[in-house]
Amino acid sequence: TASTDVKWLGTPISELKRMPACGAPLPRLKDITGQHTVMIRTDLLQNGRVPVPYPTVFKDTWDEVHVKMPCSSSNLFPVQDEVILQLFIHMQMLNAVLKYSASHAKKWDFTALHLYCTKVLDPDAAEHLFDSLLPDMVQLALRVSELCTKPIPLIKKGMNHSITMSQEQVACLLANAFFCTFPRRNSRKTEYSNYPDINFFRLFEGSSSRKIEKLKTLMCYFKSVTEQNPTGLVTFTRKGLDKPLNWKSSQTLLTKLHITCEGTIEDDGYGMLQVDFANRFVGGGVTSSGLVQEEIRFLINPELIVSRLFTEALDHNECLIITGTQQYSKYTGYAQTYKWSGSHQDPIPSDTWQRRCTEIVAIDALQFRNHLEQFLPNRINRELNKAYCGFARPGEQSENLAAVATGNWGCGVFGGDTRLKALLQMLAAAEAGRDVAYFTFGDSQLMTDVHNMHSFLTQRNISVGEVYDLLGQYYSSVCKSCLGRRPDVSLYSFIYQQVSSSLAPDDSDRGSARQ
Ligand code: AR6
Repeated sequence: TASTDVKWLGTPISELKRMPACGAPLPRLKDITGQHTVMIRTDLLQNGRVPVPYPTVFKDTWDEVHVKMPCSSSNLFPVQDEVILQLFIHMQMLNAVLKYSASHAKKWDFTALHLYCTKVLDPDAAEHLFDSLLPDMVQLALRVSELCTKPIPLIKKGMNHSITMSQEQVACLLANAFFCTFPRRNSRKTEYSNYPDINFFRLFEGSSSRKIEKLKTLMCYFKSVTEQNPTGLVTFTRKGLDKPLNWKSSQTLLTKLHITCEGTIEDDGYGMLQVDFANRFVGGGVTSSGLVQEEIRFLINPELIVSRLFTEALDHNECLIITGTQQYSKYTGYAQTYKWSGSHQDPIPSDTWQRRCTEIVAIDALQFRNHLEQFLPNRINRELNKAYCGFARPGEQSENLAAVATGNWGCGVFGGDTRLKALLQMLAAAEAGRDVAYFTFGDSQLMTDVHNMHSFLTQRNISVGEVYDLLGQYYSSVCKSCLGRRPDVSLYSFIYQQVSSSLAPDDSDRGSARQ
């Protein structure tokens, strides 16, 4: 049919707002409220120059509220010694690593790294790796006390706090993560049990080709930053919602929707607020075996990975916003078929804080094993508040807010219902005053269905509160009575029926109301 040629519906994407064009001017980069840790000299910030770390001399802290650093004098295995890292880069590195992780001696496995060096790289590339890239990474890792002088706060549950650091500082921290030098972070049984893994040891284990592709992607990043020092900044902001919204009473109308079955959040949503379909441990399985939306994004924009160093697991009403990361790699495929496909020159312009205008928000959906569970009112509230926390920017005008670039959030690994989640995200975006660009990832039926629902609701001026109420009705009159079986009336047909019968007693409205 002709409809298979339709690749997008709704508002043309060119009518949706993007950064930097839509943004309000930024204030001066400064910690005014005590809620922003800035790790560089803001007075010396200059376009195209590598930012200068602040303060000048490393401040050694070893406590419960800061990242424990590899170079700390309290570290039992202080990494001032080049020898340990130099050894790491030879194939006997295993033994050296075991020295500073004796208790995990048996668990460490470098099969993937070994295969990468011996079977994947051709002899010239392997020679470059050992003679140039790995030694450069060692040098970068060893500069940690010179580059990351300010104690890095742990951003814990309930905190509203930002950290701004240079891409050079991020690179240094990630080089340490590669060499697994962060103390107390090689086991989840320690005080960091509620934090994601940061040391890369699990990335090197096993022999799957997916691990190899992940290594290729990360080595492309390390090659880039060791050959040419990046000059930008990156900001990590943890943000919570003080109080849940009263969804029922909202009279807000839906915003614009562009929906397409082609393209991706990262490519076609440039300059928009890009959703990371996150795990509560941000980055999910990026340093181990995961390879879906979140992990892929963290691999192609590896600066995201450093958030795992200091971000405690997200609570139900929290999100993490990361602004300024750069894309270093291209890829093809997805999950099993993921392949690194070369280095990427990121063309995104920077803001006045020297951050790339790429804003990514990590929001973790609930994982559902039972289909009906997600229609429970308290689950719906949770997902709405989570999305709203990610999308809303209190204190900013709606006209300055870029559209949200999203898609099937929570509907892959986490088993959510795409039609419900699309609707919930539209409600949250409307409440936050943002338009939506929705990428269905190849699903053209979903594109049509969501577009029809959005048109139906907007044509009838149905508010966020009314849709919320309909969701509640669907649960009580359809889901409750179906005793664990899949409901025989779909959510969308239910909404069409309810609205049509209450709004339009004459049958003329039914025609357009059909799914
Ligand atoms: N752009 C647009 N849509 C995409 C893209 C993309 N680049 N990639 C995937 N999709 P999933 P979840 C679509 O399973 O269910 C990770 O391990 C595609 O339709 O990654 O929220 C996290 O760390 C895909 O099926 O998200 C969490 O642990 C759908 O988005 C967990 O997965 C959902 O992608 C989160 O699982």
